[in-house]
Amino acid sequence: MAAIKETVSQLIEKFQGPAEDVPREPSAEELQTLRKQYTDAGQGHVFAFFDELSPVEKTRLFHQLANFNPTRINELATTALNPPPTTAEEKAASLEPLPDVATASILDSDPADLQKWYDEGLKQVSQNTVAVVLMAGGQGTRLGSSAPKGCFDIGLLSQKSLFQLQAERIAKLQSLAQKTHGVAQSTIPWYIMTSGPTRKPTEEFFAKNNFFGLEKNNVFVFEQGVLPCISNEGKIMMESKTKVAVAPDGNGGIYEALLTSGVREDMRRRGIQHIHVYGVDNCLVKVADPVFIGFAASKDVDIATKVVRKRNATESVGLILQKNGKPDVVEYSEIDKETAEAKDPKHPELLKYRAANIVNHCYSFRFLESVENWAHKLPHHVARKKIACLDTETGDAVKPEKPNGVKLEQFVFDVFPLTPLEKFACIEVLREDEFSPLKNARGTGQDDPDTSRADIMKQGQRWVEKAGGVVVTEADAFGVEVSPLISYGGENLEFLHGREIKAPAVLEKEEE
Ligand code: UTP
Repeated sequence: MAAIKETVSQLIEKFQGPAEDVPREPSAEELQTLRKQYTDAGQGHVFAFFDELSPVEKTRLFHQLANFNPTRINELATTALNPPPTTAEEKAASLEPLPDVATASILDSDPADLQKWYDEGLKQVSQNTVAVVLMAGGQGTRLGSSAPKGCFDIGLLSQKSLFQLQAERIAKLQSLAQKTHGVAQSTIPWYIMTSGPTRKPTEEFFAKNNFFGLEKNNVFVFEQGVLPCISNEGKIMMESKTKVAVAPDGNGGIYEALLTSGVREDMRRRGIQHIHVYGVDNCLVKVADPVFIGFAASKDVDIATKVVRKRNATESVGLILQKNGKPDVVEYSEIDKETAEAKDPKHPELLKYRAANIVNHCYSFRFLESVENWAHKLPHHVARKKIACLDTETGDAVKPEKPNGVKLEQFVFDVFPLTPLEKFACIEVLREDEFSPLKNARGTGQDDPDTSRADIMKQGQRWVEKAGGVVVTEADAFGVEVSPLISYGGENLEFLHGREIKAPAVLEKEEE
């Protein structure tokens, strides 16, 4: 317990600037034991250049290697590189959409239900039982920016980053809950999962921007684990003579990281009951959405998930459904054409399997109490990548032109099949209001900074028009950027009634 408290306070201290990490020099005996462990596991090449390193480099490499168990790495690599052939049983897996009782859609829900969920969710926020966990440990390779994705400026007139948009939504929701329920202070703690490469720049960005107005003590940056990159032959890859090549262990690394970082303990101390978990790259994400929280709470489920409607039979998205009677995600590449194109018998104009996964979940704290029982069982998936590395035979640097190794990743949704169907629920939301991911570099035309920006601007324009404002668009100019500090989800815009706004515009304050 004391150690955990220390870790959490270290999280806070880190914002003031981490002390220079000076690892302890290992004894000769410790070094020998570690060397033997790696050699016995057939991974002795990681020490190939050890003897020519400086004492500090030796110490650092020792500690990096001591963090891994080479036998366990071998097991993970062997299973991931040689997946067992699909059994007849798996081939015959029965797929079905989730049962009606576990699903809802805000497209056709009774407005009274939506209001009830919203009210319940906002009440939970006012009672300080809601937390958010942001998954921001990805390397964002497709986007190609050297900074963490959350720092990215998608080209809004305000130049707000993704982190700032999310922070302001949290701030707005806190004040909505305070006003509605007449409480002095509503707090939504924000836990930001980073990884080796994204942690420091994320911490610096928040500190530089004064936590975007949030209370510093309610924003925690923590770090997920990493795993060594593995060559196609199953060998641990070295980035250089002094360093193992590592990569974050996937967004499924969140579960272990919640424990090892002390985040779950901090949630317990605060009396958190509902945890919204989402990916950093969705500029439209409704952070701690009261409707979602209220939906999950009223169904009393362990996991609730948000989905959007699959656009058409060929869209490359994962689907949330039931597989052999358990909640699951099936990738688009895993289903045949006939299944992809099947129509819903009750709504023949719709696809039968249309619940597209948008990595947006709500967990009960009760469920997170069980992480120790299953986190280590989640499978590791293989991502084949071009990994810059060291040839440990020649000592030469290798810049591969084609994938030369794999990164091992857990997926956040692999926990679904471990959850009983009756403890799982799914709510369909409007894509144009809630999902626009930033995946690709500018100019790609899909899920890139321009589509993110356009989706925010279009949403703002819809809100303004709904509130009775008139948006004047000329040539290809369009859109209104509405600051989340004015409106969380389109509310509070009555003051625009009858007003004319020339697009593109930004509304930062109510009186503008
Ligand atoms: P993606 O799989 O889209 O990865 O992550 P990415 O890093 O953003 O982009 P590419 O594939 O390298 O181009 C989906 C979400 O999961 C998070 C990401 O930050 C994003 O919010 N994630 C991914 C982690 O938090 N940790 C990981 O190890 C991987």
